Parts: sequence; structure tokens; C-alpha cells
Amino acid sequence: MKIKCTVNGRPRTADHIWEGESLLAVLRDGMGLPGSKNACEQGECGSCSVYLDGTLVCACLVLGGQAQGREIVTVEGLATGEVLHPVQQAFVEAGAVQCGFCTPGLVVATHDLLRRVPRPTSFQIREALAGNICRCTGYAKIIDAVQVAAGRMGTTPTPAPPPQAGGG
Ligand code: FES
Ligand code: FES
Repeated sequence: MKIKCTVNGRPRTADHIWEGESLLAVLRDGMGLPGSKNACEQGECGSCSVYLDGTLVCACLVLGGQAQGREIVTVEGLATGEVLHPVQQAFVEAGAVQCGFCTPGLVVATHDLLRRVPRPTSFQIREALAGNICRCTGYAKIIDAVQVAAGRMGTTPTPAPPPQAGGG
């Protein structure tokens, strides 16, 4: 099947997609966007988190065909060209990235949290990121990164994720 959708603000097409293929596979293998990671393929780790029409989802649990005509934002779409999004920058600066396998999902999940709750408490951060597994950091630096990003991004909730052309 052929899938046409908008990814990171741009129209994209993937051809010759098996009907049972996941959105994660379509993004990574069909559209050349390897930012979203495949760590469990069972909805357990959050490494594949993306926005689908503004809702945070595990791309491994969404059929590629369900993306037909819809809008997707991946971790690549949060940056503006070469300039990292404040959440991405905060993860780097706080030392929240070790092997990095969990990082794309955590960045997208953090972005989603901060647009809803601009100044989250430590508890709210832990609750929001509970579906994202990190095997390396012990989470303390991830919490630090979220707080750094929150401090830089201001205090106004934003209703929808901003897809920005240039990220794929
Ligand atoms: S790869 Fe999708 S939740 Fe783990
Ligand atoms: S940095 Fe390695 S899994 Fe999180």
C-alpha cells in the first residue's frame, strides 16, 4: 500500500508498505527518519514516541495505514534546522543522554508534558515520563533536563505541537 501523510510539516509518501507494518517502521524504513527508536516494539518503552495529529503515541503500536492523511511530528521535527529545540538542548546540557536510545522518545514526551504543564513538579515529570524506559541514566539527570527546559520555555501552555519544516 501507499501511505501519504504530513511529517514534520512536509507532505511525505511511502510506497510498497505491507498492511501490517507499524508507523514506526514506516517512519524509519519507508521515510528515512531514524530518530524514533525501536527498543521493544510492544508499547512498553516509549522510545518510539511521536505525535499523531497532536497526540503522543507509541509509533510501534500504530499501523502505518492509520497515518494515511494525518499529521505526524517526530523528534526530528522539533528542531529548527540545525538548531535544537530547548528540550533537546536541555537533555544534552544536563547529561541526560548516555547511550541515547531512549532519548528521542523522552524528548517528545517531555515536549508534550511542557506544552500542557509548563512548570511541572518532580512528581508530574515522573508521572508523565513513566512510560519511557531508560536503562542508563537512573532518571535523575532526565528530571534535571526537564526542569532546565521548563525554565527556558516560559510559562504559557501551548495547545498543539508545532511541526516545523526542515526536520525531515
Ligand atoms: S518501541 Fe515502541 S514502545 Fe518500545
Ligand atoms: S540513555 Fe541509554 S537507555 Fe536512556
